Amino acid sequence: MFVQRFSDEYIAMIIYPSNPRREFWDFIVLVITVYVAIVVPVRIALNYHYSSWFYLFEIIVTFIFSVDIYLNFNTAIKKGVKYITDKKEIAKKYKAKGLAMDILSAIPLFAVSAFVFGVTAQSLQVLRLFELNRLLKLHRMNHLLDIWRKRFQINPGTLRLLNFILILALVSHWIACIWIMIGGVRTDSKEYGEIYSLAIYWTVTTIATVGYGDITPQNFTQRMFAIMVMIVGAGSYGFVVGNISSLLASVDVVKASYRKKMEEISAFLNYRSIPADMQNKVHEYYDHIWESRLGHDESTMLNEIPEPLKSDIALFMRQDLIKKVPFFVHAEEKLLKDLVMSLQPTVYLPNSYVIKKGETGSCMYIISTGTVDVVSEDETTVYATLREGSFVGEMALVLDMPRTATVKTREYCDVYILDKSDFDKILEKYPDFAKHIQKITKERMHAMAPGRQDETGKSPLNPETN
Ligand code: CMP
Repeated sequence: MFVQRFSDEYIAMIIYPSNPRREFWDFIVLVITVYVAIVVPVRIALNYHYSSWFYLFEIIVTFIFSVDIYLNFNTAIKKGVKYITDKKEIAKKYKAKGLAMDILSAIPLFAVSAFVFGVTAQSLQVLRLFELNRLLKLHRMNHLLDIWRKRFQINPGTLRLLNFILILALVSHWIACIWIMIGGVRTDSKEYGEIYSLAIYWTVTTIATVGYGDITPQNFTQRMFAIMVMIVGAGSYGFVVGNISSLLASVDVVKASYRKKMEEISAFLNYRSIPADMQNKVHEYYDHIWESRLGHDESTMLNEIPEPLKSDIALFMRQDLIKKVPFFVHAEEKLLKDLVMSLQPTVYLPNSYVIKKGETGSCMYIISTGTVDVVSEDETTVYATLREGSFVGEMALVLDMPRTATVKTREYCDVYILDKSDFDKILEKYPDFAKHIQKITKERMHAMAPGRQDETGKSPLNPETN
């Protein structure tokens, strides 16, 4: 009993990575790590004078990095969709990955060695290098950025691009600092800003293979270093140029795949010498698809998602439609879930026929956007003009008879199709819905009765009464 309670409490002390406080802590560690990665090399390169602020900051960094180690021992580790919460297991994993570097980066190596060896003007040159241990914390960078991606739903492509820019900026900064350290730049100025700006200017012109040659190596070490930067720089520059388009494309995957699809379609239409006006119609159609649902094929996407999640996502994606259909606004969630799962989205072009009078009906349609006319077979009488939120094609299904009217679009219409078998199942399962449909069917029949539409000129049914 006691052992059980104790172990429960022990487990309760586990922090989950998604805990907002833990995330805030990770954010602090990220800021300090980036700060350290920028400032430590500058301090070493420019022989900065160590003020009491420096020592205060050293204490803060040591404290934060040490607390971080403690917290890491108590933070669950995500493995697939599960979390490892057993502390022994967590410690084992942490020891295998990252603990040594975290401990090394937490030690105030510079302060300790300065205390042990004593600081003289000469020894300081070497002792400063002991500050570099702080940079080891950078190994957590990927993990820390990943938290941001999840927290703010950053697109993985954008994050990769940001990561890439960050690494490029940091590496350039370090190269500039090393350049100053191993010989400095030829300038009379003692200004730190001036010296650094010249060094970073040299770095960027060298990495970008521009090499104006106005800043040149001063000594053997700088020459060797310049050769190395040139070789690595040329390679990485090629990599940057080669990858920038794919990196940019990955920022907006949907747009990139849409563009590719459009190029393929254009090439095909040209190849088959399709007349220009028909080509324009095809382009217009795809433009409409792009604008109305961002080129995503809802059904294909949904098919890849497992059942319970699928209906939640379908409900969320089609909530705009649900809001447009007055009956659905107050309908029970189960009915809506069943319904949205059965709906198939499709698009009708302007002036096209959704339904033709006399045909056998196998489905009904819910209009999501656009306007349709319900007309007689010869199209001389308009029974009704229906807009978003209305539905058509239910009469043939309810009354088991041929289509009673022709339905024609006025403009581009986004329509959801509900199959007869699904329609029957839903009607059977939800009597309220069945009653509602039957009521509307009756009203529509009445409106179509000979002479009725001539009196009013239009059907009593509009989206508001649906
Ligand atoms: P259905 O008969 O299956 O196919 C034609 C559709 O037009 C019909 O179902 C109704 O959904 C719709 N419809 C027919 N008459 C009217 C009307 N008077 N007002 C609105 N819609 C109608």
